[in-house]
Amino acid sequence: MAGSLSRNLRYDGKVTIVTGGSKGIGEGVVRVFVQNGAKVVFCARGVESGKQLETEVNSESHEGECYFVPCDVNEEDEIKNVINKTVERYGQLDCLVNNAGWHPPEERIDDVSAESFKKLLNLNLINYFLFAKYALPHLRKTKGNIINMSSLVAKIGQLHAVTYVTTKGAIDAFTRALAVDEAQHGVRVNSVSPGNVWTPLWDELSIASGNREAMIKGGEESQLLGRMGTIEEAGQMCLFLAAEATFCTGNDLLLSGGAELNYACKSQLKQRTNIYE
Ligand SMILES: NC(=O)c1ccc[n+]([C@@H]2O[C@H](COP(=O)([O-])OP(=O)(O)OC[C@H]3O[C@@H](n4cnc5c(N)ncnc54)[C@H](O)[C@@H]3O)[C@@H](O)[C@H]2O)c1
Repeated sequence: MAGSLSRNLRYDGKVTIVTGGSKGIGEGVVRVFVQNGAKVVFCARGVESGKQLETEVNSESHEGECYFVPCDVNEEDEIKNVINKTVERYGQLDCLVNNAGWHPPEERIDDVSAESFKKLLNLNLINYFLFAKYALPHLRKTKGNIINMSSLVAKIGQLHAVTYVTTKGAIDAFTRALAVDEAQHGVRVNSVSPGNVWTPLWDELSIASGNREAMIKGGEESQLLGRMGTIEEAGQMCLFLAAEATFCTGNDLLLSGGAELNYACKSQLKQRTNIYE
């Protein structure tokens, strides 16, 4: 669009898929990419919230645009449909942001069935694998990039979250392995690891804890910066990886407010051995 350069759009005309883009971190990515000129296809299960966000973002005077495609990322055919619709509509693909995922409420290994772990692996990990698999033939043509939403807890662990932490650790390994394979095609593969970012998922978990206020306060105080991150900050970090970090592949960027730093009285966690009391 005329005048784009003068407005310093950082991802002008670049076609981007964001999974789980209807709310939370994915919504932040959709908004920031559109504000920077991208043509964003986003998917989620909830048709109403997806359509609502599409209308709202497109009615604001941005240079880019967004388009919602309903998709349950547990379903391979629906994943293929998102990729096909994107290429049909825009003719190319420059960036895939794998973001859709879920964190179960606190649970101990004693209470987790193999079946529920397999379901979480399917949702959090296989979904990223399938999106990458079907996006790559198009990304190789544009020398595009993939950004996988991982988590700080993949590096430092988290109380009563063995299955979730494991899925995110696998995403880190997947990111590095795919970066190795795809470098020959000029495709970069990186990840972002949020600590605490305030989203509907975070709110859902705080309600499930039974002590919402205390959990939110604890969540804020876990960061050196004394607050949670925002979905806009998550979008900005993804935009940096997509638009400017052109010599980075296989990297993981922490979006954590310094939560991983400083010794603390972690053995106090022993006092919380029974999460159901
Ligand atoms: N919020 C945090 O503090 C935090 C921290 C670390 C990692 N993460 C990761 O960031 C990602 C987004 O988390 P969030 O907090 O924004 O979550 P959220 O629940 O607020 O939003 C998740 C998005 O994924 C979509 N989604 C979920 N299941 C889906 C399915 N089966 N099919 C299609 N779409 C589906 C939802 O519709 C929604 O758009 C997740 O991968 C999560 O693990 C979040």
